[in-house]
Amino acid sequence: MDIDHQQKTATYEQVTREIKATLEGETDLLAAMTTIACLLHQAFDNYFWTGFYRRVGPDRLLIGPYQGKLGCLHISFDQGVCGACARSQQTVIVPDVHQFPGHIACDPDSRSEIVVPVFNRAGEFIAVFDVDSDYYDAFDETDQRYLEQIISLLTCFDSAAVVWTDTQ
Ligand code: SME
Repeated sequence: MDIDHQQKTATYEQVTREIKATLEGETDLLAAMTTIACLLHQAFDNYFWTGFYRRVGPDRLLIGPYQGKLGCLHISFDQGVCGACARSQQTVIVPDVHQFPGHIACDPDSRSEIVVPVFNRAGEFIAVFDVDSDYYDAFDETDQRYLEQIISLLTCFDSAAVVWTDTQ
C-alpha cells in the first residue's frame, strides 16, 4: 500500500483531537488506554493490531487492552520487538518484522511494527504501545511523532507502577 503522508498527518491530527476530547476529565488509566487503542485502530485501515502490553514484573509484559486478532499473552523483556522497546525504553520501528531477530510472530499477516514506551506521571516505565501493520514499511517518523504525543497523554494519569514480588 502506498501510504499518502498528507492523509496520514491529517488522520493523526483528527484522531488526536478525538482522543483528547474523549479523555477530557477521565481519571482511569485503563479507560484511557482502551480509548487510545480503539480510536487509533479505527482511524487507520493499515493498523492490524493496536494495543498495550503492561509491565507486570521486573522483566515481564502482559497483554491488554488491545484491538485486533489474538496476540500472545506474555512477553519477556528479552523477546521480540516489544521486549526491545521495554529494554531500551525508546520507540522501535521495524519495517519488516521477518528481518527482526527474535520477532514474536503472533500472526503471520503482521509485516511491520512500531512500539512506543509508556510512562506514568512519576516517569516510571509502565507499558509498551504496539501497532502492527499487515503492510511492509508502514511506519515512519510521522507515526513516531504522533504516537509518542498521544501516548504522552498517559503521563497525566496517577497510575502507580505495578508492584511485583521477586517470587512471581
Ligand atoms: N510482534 C510483537 C509481539 C506482539 S504482537 O504482534 C501482538 C513482538 O515481536 O514484540
